[in-house]
Amino acid sequence: MTETNENKQPFILIGYMGSGKSYVCKRLGARLGLKWIDLDDVIEAHAGKSISAIFVEDGHDAFRKLEHECLVQLLDELEYDLISAGGGAPCYWNNMALMNARAQTIYLRRDAQAILKYVLPGIDHRPLLSGKQPDEIEEYIKQTLAEREPYYLQARFILEDLESEALLDAVQQIMQSQGPEVTALRHLS
Ligand code: S3P
Repeated sequence: MTETNENKQPFILIGYMGSGKSYVCKRLGARLGLKWIDLDDVIEAHAGKSISAIFVEDGHDAFRKLEHECLVQLLDELEYDLISAGGGAPCYWNNMALMNARAQTIYLRRDAQAILKYVLPGIDHRPLLSGKQPDEIEEYIKQTLAEREPYYLQARFILEDLESEALLDAVQQIMQSQGPEVTALRHLS
């Protein structure tokens, strides 16, 4: 095995809230022994507070700036095989171009109805959705999804309307199609 850290490109899952990014990281990470991380967790560790608290205390722009800085740090460190990016990350600070230049991006695409089903139970932990009425939430998702799709659709790979095992298998297939070493990346660094 000759791959070095410099050649290693992480995989980054992108997509709207509730599209399954964290689920894939946790489940596929365990299945393949990958080193994975959620960008939101890095942001929270840097800020020393929750994502919701950052939104309330520092505001949206400050959150996006910190999100960008943490993304750059992850891409510089090359520590992780698989990264879950927050739903808005591809749409600010030229992050989509940055991710495509330095990682393999995978868009987990779901329509607004499916997204609604997944986000409703945990709405209180989602600062962009909490406090809204259910019908407002559906409208907000439809509108922001349409605004974000031009960014999401720049992903190198797009997986559409997949759930559970089928979603895990599809991401695994993409990762493995990029080289048999992928499942052993964890042991290279
Ligand atoms: C956001 C999505 C969240 C988190 C923040 C903003 C968004 O991440 O980064 O609440 O703008 O869509 P998840 O997509 O992982 O829930």
